[in-house]
Amino acid sequence: MGRVAYVNGRFVPHGQAVVHIEDRGYQLADAVYEVWALFGGRMADAAGHFERLERSLSELKIAMPMSRQALTFVLKETVRRNRVREGTVYLQVSRGVAPRDHAFPTAPVRPAVVITVRGLDRAASEARAAKGVTVVTTPENRWGRCDIKTVGLLPNALAKQAAREAGAYEAWFVDDLGFVTEGASSNAWIVDQDGRLRTRDTNANILRGVTRKTLIESMQTEGLMIDERPFTPGDAIAAREAFITGAGSLVLPVIAVDGRPVGDGSVGPVAMRLRNLYIEHAIAGAI
Ligand code: PDD
Repeated sequence: MGRVAYVNGRFVPHGQAVVHIEDRGYQLADAVYEVWALFGGRMADAAGHFERLERSLSELKIAMPMSRQALTFVLKETVRRNRVREGTVYLQVSRGVAPRDHAFPTAPVRPAVVITVRGLDRAASEARAAKGVTVVTTPENRWGRCDIKTVGLLPNALAKQAAREAGAYEAWFVDDLGFVTEGASSNAWIVDQDGRLRTRDTNANILRGVTRKTLIESMQTEGLMIDERPFTPGDAIAAREAFITGAGSLVLPVIAVDGRPVGDGSVGPVAMRLRNLYIEHAIAGAI
């Protein structure tokens, strides 16, 4: 059986899944999305992603397309039909289809819903984590509402491409004051010289990562010191360790920034311990 997508109420073969040419997500990036990590076919951090989805939609005045319960059912059914156990499930909700106009449609439109599932090789991800990844920095050039998880990802796509071309895995945006905001598709962290876990606070213009939030809760239970304070690329290089978090990367050690080693340039114990802690927690809470 091939891949299956969910598009506006129907399960369709992935290769034949289409949306209308006047979908506002397609023309205006007037759409939001969420990505859940899948462990054993179950969705990790389900509630956290639903909460952020509801917030993103509400900030854009788009209605929830269906109840959280119904959406959970459809997401899980799409995962089941794809027979994926390890991977990610992607949900996109756009304002809907309407004749092209920047302003919202005056007649009520139904939000458009697309769900896709992708499998991944967990052993390859673990091998990547064990080796560590590298990042490059790029000037922050995104809009002022990065807390809303919209599909308006062009700066993120360009930053990620620049990283790939430089042979790096991720790009870190750096603001006008010289501080790292976050990655193109992940939150950024360091373990500073005092052993504190530092990451940008959520009053800054960043996405409020669900993985970040869950990890902070787990860290607090473990008695680790968290400092939601900005850091510069120089702080990262001088730090003991660095890592990134997200539904795709989970917790991934960073061993170099702009070609300069972080700490001694090897994968550190804290990032690996946090990766295992997060995965344990995610598996236990997955639905
Ligand atoms: N990206 N920051 C940005 C800009 C992101 O795109 C993401 C996630 C994160 C981490 O958020 P979370 O922990 O909730 O996944 C931070 C997803 C995975 C993506 O775009 O594919």
